[in-house]
This record gives sequence, structure tokens and C-alpha cells, in this order.
Amino acid sequence: MSLWQIHEDRFDPTPKKLHSQETVYTIGNGYFCTRGTFEEGFPGANPATLLYGVFDTVPIAGEELANAPDWLPLQLFVNGERFRLDRGQILEYQRTLDMASGVLHRSVRWESPGGVRLLITIERFASLADEHAGLIRYTVAVEQAEKEVEISLRASLNTAVGNYDLMHWEPVDQGHEDARLWLTSVTRGTGVELTQAMSFTSHAPGVYSEILDSDIAPAIRLQSTLAPGASLTAEKIVVMYTSRDGVEPLPTALSSLQQLVSTGYDTQLAHHQEAWQQFWRDEDILIEGDEVAQRGVRYNIYQLRINASLHDPRYSIAAKGLTGFGYRGHIFHDTEIFMLPFFIYTMPEVARNLVMYRYLTLPAARAKARKLGYEGAMYAWESTLSGEEMTPPAIIHPETGEIIPVPNALHEIHISASVAHAAWDYWRVSGDDEFMRDYGAEIVLSTALFWGSRVERNREKHTYEITNILGPDEWHEHVNNNAFTNVMARWNLSIALDVLRWLHNYAPEKASALERQLGLTDQHLALWRDIIQRIAIPQDPQSGLFEQFDGFFKLPPLDREKYRGRTTSYQGLLGVDEVQKYRIIKQADVLMLLTVLDQEFDLKTKRANWEYYYPITDHDYGSSLTPAFHVMLACELGRDQEAYDLFMKGNLVDLENLRGNTPEGIHAACCGAVWQAVVFGFAGLRVTEEKYTTQAHLPATWKRLAFSFLHRGKREFVDIRR
Ligand code: IFM
Repeated sequence: MSLWQIHEDRFDPTPKKLHSQETVYTIGNGYFCTRGTFEEGFPGANPATLLYGVFDTVPIAGEELANAPDWLPLQLFVNGERFRLDRGQILEYQRTLDMASGVLHRSVRWESPGGVRLLITIERFASLADEHAGLIRYTVAVEQAEKEVEISLRASLNTAVGNYDLMHWEPVDQGHEDARLWLTSVTRGTGVELTQAMSFTSHAPGVYSEILDSDIAPAIRLQSTLAPGASLTAEKIVVMYTSRDGVEPLPTALSSLQQLVSTGYDTQLAHHQEAWQQFWRDEDILIEGDEVAQRGVRYNIYQLRINASLHDPRYSIAAKGLTGFGYRGHIFHDTEIFMLPFFIYTMPEVARNLVMYRYLTLPAARAKARKLGYEGAMYAWESTLSGEEMTPPAIIHPETGEIIPVPNALHEIHISASVAHAAWDYWRVSGDDEFMRDYGAEIVLSTALFWGSRVERNREKHTYEITNILGPDEWHEHVNNNAFTNVMARWNLSIALDVLRWLHNYAPEKASALERQLGLTDQHLALWRDIIQRIAIPQDPQSGLFEQFDGFFKLPPLDREKYRGRTTSYQGLLGVDEVQKYRIIKQADVLMLLTVLDQEFDLKTKRANWEYYYPITDHDYGSSLTPAFHVMLACELGRDQEAYDLFMKGNLVDLENLRGNTPEGIHAACCGAVWQAVVFGFAGLRVTEEKYTTQAHLPATWKRLAFSFLHRGKREFVDIRR
């Protein structure tokens, strides 16, 4: 099988497999993604098309991406019998996602209950050349029948879909113009208007076409008679525009559809394929000697691309992208820490937009800080378009089914430093000084103001502390002086001083204006310097070992042997309260610090912390974010086997549904971590303002690793051969 393809040759209808494959076979283009459900439908399927930044309100969790009316449905009837995989007999089944061209193919050899044998071949794509367009080409060939058969194909737009049980769209109006029909719907809570316009045509002779108007599921039906050995091909073209696009959705959708229809399916397919080719020309990573790794890495890059808008800074990439309902489309630190580096080094214009999302949501971050009695900007742990806090106060634990409180909104505060880091890192690698002058500096200074007001002075010890928080390891709540948070806060303060100094040189008027706007005084700067000197950092000066938070070392170790063969996380096994009592962690915390601020720590420190924290992290059932993220450190420390094992746990997390929760959407942060593992880990890429270096740590079977990246606007090529 091609190293550009994801393939299955057996249909497995068990719900877990059905739904995880729906996620895996998602197509998209950054404006929308559509899960890999079948055009003809299947009982219990979760069809979903999620549009970038199109939200509706929900009880408790604020807002969620609203599953748009389904544009896929295309039902085939042969002599009145409906084709579906739970009916008749499947004689052969193939499905292939071709990542090189962004096209999803399926072919099914099927025998109807009445004994007609058909070969059905379907291809579909979300155009990368015109992000508003989704296209399907459907061919049905009669392979065996006693006489001519009646074929009916019904293509529709279906409003009867929800986010599981929640329906978000109200049909507004429906109509048709010539052979093109349209449907306008509006989200019930947020009032976003969406028009979908559709054509469904066939060039075959003797095909009768009819429009079936309906407010709920308008359709176009094509009917024909086929002799044994004959076939019929039809093309469905759908265009989607929303009121968020700054245009009138209905007229724009209709004229755009008219243009697509007149140029034709083949032309659209060719433009789409060219756009993907161009993408891969620059963004591919070539691995020789390990086919599974190669295919997986391409898949992760494919996912990063289809979930990112090329030009919309009003939203960012959600934890599950646009591929499923998990985390409701909310934005976490997943973007800044895990995904952003891919975009910084390959598509800086997208990276800029992702950071701009944080700039545009500064008002909400300021309001959150103010409400809690702090200065500056305190970013929401989970956010949507406005940047307001969207973390639900409670959730159902995915493993135990209990209702558990979620304290993250108030306590998982390290995200503000991660946002500052994102702005700084984008600037460092791209050299985009104008961005830093006009936007980045405000983010960095506003988050520094937050930290300056959030730390607590411990007069007895002459230190500053940060108490009652959650570090990245979410299994230990209400802790004091989490090393990750305190060091990142210190870094944020220190970089704020550097950026301010730089701004005074580069754009003195802007620097003074910003100081006035933010109310930044000499007292603030003096306080920041003092905090940088004296903030409590729990670290042994001799060995360099960090204590994850005050008292962590005193927790008893967990007898992990006792749980050998487990199939769930330690938190799932022990419960939310009990797991806190042990020295066992969900995800990289101290080790994440040593990776994010890689240049600030020496090898001795990295080794001491790796030896301590690696064994007590739940790499299998804790967070999916970090197995691949550990690879950078593992490579530096010569932990080759661990590096490869952790990398593959990340690389295949969705392709093999390793966590069991791929049905809810891909693990977008993990996709980013996989890219970082290869580029910063196995290739050992490091950049400074002036130059870049690599230090190869290729896994044993890899013969070659090659990729390119952008450094300060210049494309550089790395080609490592064994
Ligand atoms: O942001 C992550 C967090 O670090 C771990 N729990 C899941 C979140 C969303 O992916």
C-alpha cells in the first residue's frame, strides 16, 4: 500500500470501530471538516460537518461547534431496494484516504436482497482550492442482474443532525433556482446563518432529474434504467457560506455554485489536487526505513492542515480540531504548546493567526483577571470565539462515569505563560518584528502584569509563591508552587522586560503608548525583577531535580506492579480523590518545562528529572498529549528505545484508536507533538536568530529523514541519511 494512503478492506460495524473510523477518515480544508460517515447512512452513525468558528450555545459548557446540516447524504435504490451496508450482502469493501490528494475513496461490491450485483465507487473531497466547496462523485455499475434495473439516486442536505442529542440548527428557508437547490439554516442560540447550495447532475443519457423541495431535507433525485454491465456516474457539488464570512450567504453560495458547476467536477478536482501537491511539496516529512512511522507522520501532518484556517484569526484549533464533538470545539493550551511549532516552522501566516486569536481575545482575558482581582490578562483555560472562560464546572468522568467537578478554570493558570511563549516563539523564528510591535508585546506585557499580581509574597521566607493551582499534571489539584507554572511565570516576566527594552529601541513611541495603555509603571518593572530573583522554584541545586510541587516528594509511590495489565488510567482505577495521594502523574509536567524552555536547562538537569519523572508518568492511559512530546528529551538523553516507543504511541494514537476515544475526534495536540518529536527530537533541530543546527538521533531502522522548514522567511532543507 502507498505510504500516502490510509486504507481498510473490511467493514467493521461495531460501534467503537465505526465511530473511530469516522474520525480517521475525516476530510477537510480548514473552513470545514466532515467525518468519514457513509453517504448512504448507517444505523447509529455520527455524521458531522464542523465549520471553523461556527458555534452555538449549550447548557453548562457555554458553547460548542454546531454540527452543520449534513451535506453528504446520497441514497441509492436499485429496483426500489435501498443500498446500505447493513442490508443485502457486502462482497467486497475498500476505503482509502489518499493524503497526497486529500481525496477519500470507497468502493463496495454489493448484492441487493433481490439479487442484483452492483459495484459502487464513491470519491469525495473538501476542496483545498475553494474552501467553501465539498464534492462527491458517485458511480454505480450493474455487474450482474437478470434484466434491466431501475436506479434511483437521491442526494440531499439534511438538517436532522445534532451534536449527539443536541440540535443546533433551525431551518429558515429553502428553494431552488434552475437545477440548483439551497437551504438556509440558523443556529438557535448564536444566530449564525448558513446557506448550503447543491447541484446533483449526471452526464449519462436517459437520466431523469427532479427536485424534491423540503425545509428539512431538500433533495435532487436522478432516475435511470441500467442494463446489466452498464453504469451511471453522478456528481454532487455543495457550497457553504455563513454570515461569519462577511458576505450574504445565499446569493454568494448560489453564484459560487454556478461557477463550480460550469467549470465542472474534473476541473475542481484538479485544482484541489494541485493545492494538496503544493502543500506537500513544502510540508512533507520523508522517512525511509519505517513505513508505519512514515504513514503515521503524514497522517498527523494531514490532520494539522485540515483543521487550520489559512486566514481566520478569530478562532484557533480546538483539542479535537473540527473532527468530532469531544471538548466541544474549545481551545486549550494544546494549540500553543503542541501544535503551534508546526505552523511556525512551516506555515507562519497560519501561526500568526493562531497567536492573533489570543490577541483578539485579550479583552476577555483582562476581564477574567479583573474579576478575580488581578491585573493584566489571565487567559481562559477553555475558550471559544470571545475568549471568555468556557470550562464546564463539572463533567462526567470518561472512564468512571461519575460526575466530577472541574476546577481548571480558576486553577490551571499556566496557560497565560504558554500564550506569551507562543507570541515570543513565533517572533523568534519568523523575525516578524511588526507583529511583535503591534500585537505580541501587548500579550507578553499583559500576561506579565497578571503574574506580577498573581504571585503571593511570603514575607517569612522572602520569596514569592503561587499557591492553590493545577499544573499540567491534572491529577494533583490545589497544589502550591508547581515547578512548571512558577518557572514559566518567571520566564514570562523576564521576557516581558526584554521585549519592552526591545520595543523602546525599535518603536519608542509605540513602547510609551503601550505603557500608558496598560498602566505599566516603574514599580511594576521593579516588582517583576524582584519576583524573577525570588520566586519559589522547588529544585535541588545539586542534582537539578525539580519537585513537581511543594510536597510531591513526600507522597507515597504507587505500586504500579499491582495494576499490571490495566486497560484504564490510574485516575480511572483509583478515583479522582485517591490518585492525588500518590506519586503518579497524568502527563509531562516538569518534563514539559524542560522541553518548552529547552535552552535554559543543561543535560545534567534534564537527565536527573527524566530519571525521576519518566517512570511515574501514565504514558498509556494518562493524557494523549505527552508521549510524543517526551521524545525531544529522550533523544537528547540517548534514550533511543523509549524515544521510539513514545513516538509511536503518539504517532498511531488515532489511526489505531490507542486511547479508545478517537470516536470523539482526533488528538490534535498529539498531531503537533508528533511533528515536534520528528523535527526537534529525531532530527534535533534547534534555531537561534542567526542560524540553525541539527543533531540526528535516528531510530534504528530509519535510513533517511528529510524535511524543510522556514527560518526568518528563508526555506531551509534538512536531509539526514544513515
Ligand atoms: O489541554 C489538555 C490537558 O493538558 C489535558 N487534558 C485534556 C486537555 C485537552 O486536550
